[in-house]
Amino acid sequence: MTTAVPVVAHSRAELADALRPLTASGGVALVPTMGALHGGHRSLLALAGTLAPSVVASIFVNPMQFGPGEDLGRYPRTFDADLAACADEGVAVVFTPGPDVVFPDGEPLVRVDPGPVGSTLEGAVRPGHFAGVLTVVLKLFGLVRPDVAVFGEKDAQQLFLIRRMVRDLDVPVRVVGAPTVREDDGLALSSRNRYLDATARAAGLGLSRALRAGAAAAGAGPQAVVDAATDVLAAEPALTVDYCALVDPSTFGDVRHGHRGPATLVVAARVGGTRLIDNTGVQL
Ligand code: PAJ
Repeated sequence: MTTAVPVVAHSRAELADALRPLTASGGVALVPTMGALHGGHRSLLALAGTLAPSVVASIFVNPMQFGPGEDLGRYPRTFDADLAACADEGVAVVFTPGPDVVFPDGEPLVRVDPGPVGSTLEGAVRPGHFAGVLTVVLKLFGLVRPDVAVFGEKDAQQLFLIRRMVRDLDVPVRVVGAPTVREDDGLALSSRNRYLDATARAAGLGLSRALRAGAAAAGAGPQAVVDAATDVLAAEPALTVDYCALVDPSTFGDVRHGHRGPATLVVAARVGGTRLIDNTGVQL
């Protein structure tokens, strides 16, 4: 572990200067984030360090992926702590642009269409979200030109769509997924967990409990998995469930009757004003 302070780049010119010595000395692994870094982000940075000689972290709260009435304005911003975490993880460059740097002409006229999977599940609850995510991720790939980029399985639909974008549009980057990091009691780490008071946090544990109950019912088939998870969520009155679904990881569509092999159980719920999402692999 090195504690050398990363080079901080705000502008495109600063980024280009910071990247020059890295690309000269081998490959670059990029970890895109919106900051408020926690152990999940840190695990991505650590994994990135095993995949390429240099790690670049981006910290950008992307306005394009927030809908009206979402938490863009109050999204946590903890830059000093984030920079210290990046130093701990041996990050070479932290790219932390403002919206005017990423979108110099305002919101882009041309944007990435996430296709049909972009309007199901997270995309159904958050219209336009995945177009905003994919557009900014493609821009970050263009600005940083990494050899490899690391994303968390925590955001399973996001990871699926980024993999498909890279494959469908022949983007020259390798995408690597990293397992979800959880608290000891099962709660998936999230920058939004800091919004939860003790009561909301206790209710939020219903998501990981539902996933475990669902996975334990896998022997009885897909419907039993969804029913077991739904029952656990329903027993938590403080949770408002957005969806609880079992999807085929190769299509992100609902698993078909009689499906065998791997599936992904995805849940999203609101507690108070906070949205939580989680998922787990299930073997049918
Ligand atoms: P953000 O929510 O900051 O997450 C950055 C990365 O950390 C994502 O790849 C996410 O899946 C991963 N991550 C979050 N919580 C995790 C956990 N508990 N365990 C493992 N990985 C975790 O996702 C975004 O930002 C944005 O949409 C972004 C891709 C940066 C585009 O703006």
